Amino acid sequence: MIIRSIHLKNFRNYRRLDLDVGPSVNIIYGFNAQGKTNIIEAINVCSCLSSHRTPKDRDLITFKENEYEIKIDLLDPEDNYKTDLSVSYLTEKSEENSSSAPKRVLKQDSMQISKIASYLGICNTVIFAPEDLNLIKGAPSVRRKFLNLIISKTSPTYFDLLNKYNRLIGQKNASLKSFRGGPANDDTMDFWDYPLADISSEIILYRYRYSLLLNKFSSRHHLDISEEKENLKISYSTIQGSIELINAFLEENALLDAFISGSAERGIYARIKGILSEHLYSKFKGMRQSDSEKGITGIGIHKDDLEITLNDMSMKIYSSQGQQRSAALSLKLSELDIIRDFCRSSPILLLDDVFSELDAKRRVSLISGMVNAQIFITCTEREYIEKELGTLVDGASLPRYFHVENGTVTPE
Ligand SMILES: Nc1ncnc2c1ncn2[C@@H]1O[C@H](COP(=O)(O)OP(=O)(O)OP(=O)(O)O)[C@@H](O)[C@H]1O
Ligand SMILES: [Mg+2]
Repeated sequence: MIIRSIHLKNFRNYRRLDLDVGPSVNIIYGFNAQGKTNIIEAINVCSCLSSHRTPKDRDLITFKENEYEIKIDLLDPEDNYKTDLSVSYLTEKSEENSSSAPKRVLKQDSMQISKIASYLGICNTVIFAPEDLNLIKGAPSVRRKFLNLIISKTSPTYFDLLNKYNRLIGQKNASLKSFRGGPANDDTMDFWDYPLADISSEIILYRYRYSLLLNKFSSRHHLDISEEKENLKISYSTIQGSIELINAFLEENALLDAFISGSAERGIYARIKGILSEHLYSKFKGMRQSDSEKGITGIGIHKDDLEITLNDMSMKIYSSQGQQRSAALSLKLSELDIIRDFCRSSPILLLDDVFSELDAKRRVSLISGMVNAQIFITCTEREYIEKELGTLVDGASLPRYFHVENGTVTPE
């Protein structure tokens, strides 16, 4: 899919924007704080319902307004299929929002889509932004969000699993609070822990598989970037004993490769899931006393993390700024690889302010292999980017330039 045009209403500093864009490289340039990133952010929010800058939809609405709307017109160049996607966020009662609680409305071709899983994956983007550095040193929630997004973009049903998990854990915590101080009632806890163990085991299997893929791709990228000097390793950490259990099963049955490629039979998944689910249930059960004392669930996939090491040393503790930047780039390039592999087409590439920060070698890593992809790049200096791109983009895909000044975009 490529974007043909972008339409914004009350999004950040755009009260209104209707913009036709080019099929290959689009350069969005202008001084600081004019609205360049806001355009990239809007594309990202409309394609994968997630902003790289804020978890709150409210922040995206133009100051003093009540709702925003983003619409993108799309084209599949392979078969000339046209469609459009729109996302709006309404904070007040209206025709589309019958309650007064804030509501997000998703549409494809003006028809409302009620399930997020049916919306995700229609148009895929991968964004590279200064915030990527948080992947290395930030809180575990940053890496969970990164992993969750990659899985959701390529396996949309995963999103439903996460939703179910979040609902259940919320209900279980509410129930734990009601026991606070006293012993938890085993029947009540079983009511939560059986389904939680079932859903968690499925989520862990997804996350473990994708973490193995991330590790495979990113260690390759990082060796490239560091001229074969640095070994980047990504490993998934979750509820104690789970990975050992999965590994033992996969090794015993010589199924590791089939697990990573996703070609193992359904029956195999059902068997691993069964074993894992029993393990998780016993772990949850072992925590009941302490959980009811604290009034909250102490262990669970809501605490999962990705551990990142460079030459076997924790990046969180020992890495330099440059190493963090390279590792973050390796991780994001692996996201690109995974989405390309799963979707068999290039996602749209969004480069927010990162292009000028990369040295020549990293720029080549990023742009090479993306020859047919649609790319959006933000920068402050047109001349610089023009010169740098000259050597990377072939003549057939001439870049389009857009100048941004105080929320007004002028195509050139
Ligand atoms: N909810 C909002 N409503 C109105 N304006 C907003 C909102 N959120 C941010 N802005 C404004 O948008 C502008 C920043 O836009 P953006 O982040 O796109 O800048 P930029 O052009 O990418 O700048 P830089 O080169 O510094 O990255 C700021 O002027 C900010 O005040
Ligand atoms: Mg910016």
